Amino acid sequence: MTANTLEALSIEPSGKALGAEILGIDFAKPVSADICEAVMAAWADHLVLLFRGLSLDDDQLLETAGLFGGQQEAGSRGYFVKAGFKAGETNNVATRPGVSIITNLGDDGKLESRKAAFGNQPLKWHSDNSYVEVPPTGGLLHAHIVPVNGGGETSFSNQYLAYERLPADLKAAIDGKHIRHDDHRNTTGRLRPTMTAPTSRDDITGPSHPIVRVNPLTGRRALYLGRHYEWPSSFIVELDDDESEALLGELWDHATQDDLTWTHDNWTAGDLLLWDNRCTMHARTPIDFTQPRVMHRALIKGDPVIAA
Ligand SMILES: [Fe+2]
Repeated sequence: MTANTLEALSIEPSGKALGAEILGIDFAKPVSADICEAVMAAWADHLVLLFRGLSLDDDQLLETAGLFGGQQEAGSRGYFVKAGFKAGETNNVATRPGVSIITNLGDDGKLESRKAAFGNQPLKWHSDNSYVEVPPTGGLLHAHIVPVNGGGETSFSNQYLAYERLPADLKAAIDGKHIRHDDHRNTTGRLRPTMTAPTSRDDITGPSHPIVRVNPLTGRRALYLGRHYEWPSSFIVELDDDESEALLGELWDHATQDDLTWTHDNWTAGDLLLWDNRCTMHARTPIDFTQPRVMHRALIKGDPVIAA
């Protein structure tokens, strides 16, 4: 069947707490308004969509972001620009501002020899760019080169369910409260270029977002934790340090339980993942540093965070 027709479109849920594979779509070809609407509906239902067998260049990836609301420059890029890197000079500042190259290849195109390099490290649970005022609504991650049985499995966690399944006392404890988000460290926990380590909560100067947000796509409430590292890091604005750490610890344990998750554990070149960054978190396993991995990511233009 021809791709991008309603007849060809098929949705296969993962059977887990979120995630579905979508067949019959090729974003390299024109996508009509009714197909786009059907994919948006699947996105609202399943939160994370997997498309396979695609071959999108960066412009096509950005055009795909356009179907879901437009593109947004990654927050991380600005730190490298501030440190003096120019567009196209390094994988950390790709030629197109809307694209991030996530790879374990160095800027010379050779395998990064250090196991501890960013591109080889596991990534802690997080949602993308919670440390900016208007975080992206979603993300697209397209596999160009992936290791064979070499890690990089990507897990997602359903934060609607995380909120809905909170015990009543925890729901009451977070009602109306906010987290101030930490922008000092990248997703492996290392300091970003030009940043110095915070020594108190006064040094955490990222935006404050409500702990419970409403996704305008569905009207549903989701837990919105962002990211967290050892103190001092993101904290609950309305609580003192000890209370904040204790409550965040309970929330993080709750939000990353296995029965809230689905893992894409068989990445193949040509895969494209689309996730809703308002109501999911994601994490990845470490990568075999002897095998190349090249992923291109585009973030989808954000909408203001809506408090429940
Ligand atoms: Fe991420």
